[in-house]
Amino acid sequence: MIERVTKAVIPAAGLGTRFLPITKAVPKPMLSVLDKPTIQYIAEELVSVGIKDIVIVVSPGSEVIGKHFGPAEELEERLLSDGKKKLYDIERQTQRFNVKFVVQKVANGLAGAILCAEKYVKKEPFALLLGDELMYTPKGKEPCMKRLMDVYLKTGKSVLATMEVFGDDISKYGNLGIGKDIEGAMEVTEIKEKPSVNEALSNYALVGRYVLTGEVMGMLKKLPTRRHEIELTDALDELAKKGKLLAAPFEDVRYDVGDKFGYIRANVEFALRSKEIGRQTKEYIKELAQKL
Ligand code: UTP
Repeated sequence: MIERVTKAVIPAAGLGTRFLPITKAVPKPMLSVLDKPTIQYIAEELVSVGIKDIVIVVSPGSEVIGKHFGPAEELEERLLSDGKKKLYDIERQTQRFNVKFVVQKVANGLAGAILCAEKYVKKEPFALLLGDELMYTPKGKEPCMKRLMDVYLKTGKSVLATMEVFGDDISKYGNLGIGKDIEGAMEVTEIKEKPSVNEALSNYALVGRYVLTGEVMGMLKKLPTRRHEIELTDALDELAKKGKLLAAPFEDVRYDVGDKFGYIRANVEFALRSKEIGRQTKEYIKELAQKL
């Protein structure tokens, strides 16, 4: 029997060195896109596909993330007594998630972070969403996580999200060897981490959204440590070679907010979509573009 996916893991314990100095004291998941920390967007993405139980893997000293998802009585009382109901509702929205936190004491890689969540996930299938990638679902399109869960429910196999990249860009990603089509997804035959263009297996890159079967936790435990880290890709490659891994393309707009340019792009595009400042931002960008 194929078990339903009810739990999610968000590894968000990386050092965020590309964003120094801000990440010295502010955890990367608390960096804001418009007015919301990136980690809240990911929690909202999960709730939108019916996953309520969320485990966030954080680095030591990231208590502020817990504070963000917790109560704020004085602030709430003040907003209510000042008649600021809309702002009160915005604040209350941060408390609707069933989040648990687990600390990754040493940043020993993505696989290390996932293993920290084992006591919550146990042997169940789980959604895995990387903390520094945001997804935006345009109206009328299917959310990426929904697609992954559907493919998993039909096949019982682990599924990851994939997108096509062209030219030298493939060497920034995990690259997929692709086999036959199955249930709207593709079989993954092999994974190569950041290959050169000449060595690439295809144009398909893996991105930070997955549904993984319970078996993966066991595989992660057996992985070798390389340069102080254990890598998820090693386990995925093993799954692929056993014929147990699929890749599904998606319709969401993806933002790599762990990268400075991706972060700015996300801020600009979310500002353009905002009811509050969208029109103003558009006018400003048009004006600015004429001067560039
Ligand atoms: P990155 O490779 O982007 O690393 O991690 P990073 O430390 O966050 O950022 P830079 O490169 O130093 O700027 C990819 C994802 O895996 C998580 C990160 O939080 C990010 O969401 N991660 C990485 C962990 O949770 N633990 C780790 O040990 C490594």
